[in-house]
Amino acid sequence: MTQDELKQAVAKAAIEYVVDGEIIGVGTGSTANFFIDELGKIKDRIKGAVASSEATAERLRSHGIKVFDLNDVDTMPVYIDGADEINAAGAMIKGGGAALTREKIVASVAQKFVCIADGSKLVDVLGKFPLPVEVIPMSQAVVARKLGALGGEPRLRIKDGKPVVTDNGCYIIDVLGLSITEPADIEDKINNIVGVVTNGLFARQGANVCLLGTSEGVKKLEF
Ligand code: A5P
Repeated sequence: MTQDELKQAVAKAAIEYVVDGEIIGVGTGSTANFFIDELGKIKDRIKGAVASSEATAERLRSHGIKVFDLNDVDTMPVYIDGADEINAAGAMIKGGGAALTREKIVASVAQKFVCIADGSKLVDVLGKFPLPVEVIPMSQAVVARKLGALGGEPRLRIKDGKPVVTDNGCYIIDVLGLSITEPADIEDKINNIVGVVTNGLFARQGANVCLLGTSEGVKKLEF
């Protein structure tokens, strides 16, 4: 099976977690996009969705799914999203698509985080995937120095010769070379650097369930 087929398989399997008549939180990225396409097929069963990015909001609307502002939603039963890496305890690195802050905010309102990922995302130790950190633009140099002091190699994310700008008007610093054995500790340390909006470690708010696409079928991990 191709990676896309594995992503499609977990996206289909995640429909089981959709709660009828409720609002669902929806993540960002290629796996989340496959999920949105599946959600479109059962859109009459849900009240609507909260999106973790402008791109996701646009895709949800293209399927006729109502997109709610998070400020109008108190809670939701489930948030469904992909990950760049996930470990055996359900801690994740996210933000490869630069949507980490909104993803973390929407996930914080949901009662359950269902991660959907192809099998390559399951790792023993987080950190091979560079850790995304969203920063206020004026702080990028000072934050980069502090991230370097933590032992990583910080790189401002650049596209077409310019810094990538997030939906929140901020920049992304990717930190290479970290071996993250204590994810909650590193998550807290980086979030405490002045100028950081948030970082892509989801350890304090890890997954409750992970649907992992493998060539033997979809495996369910519960944390
Ligand atoms: C978006 O910012 C990310 O957190 C994505 O959830 C993550 O990068 C996974 O993306 P794919 O589903 O495209 O692998």
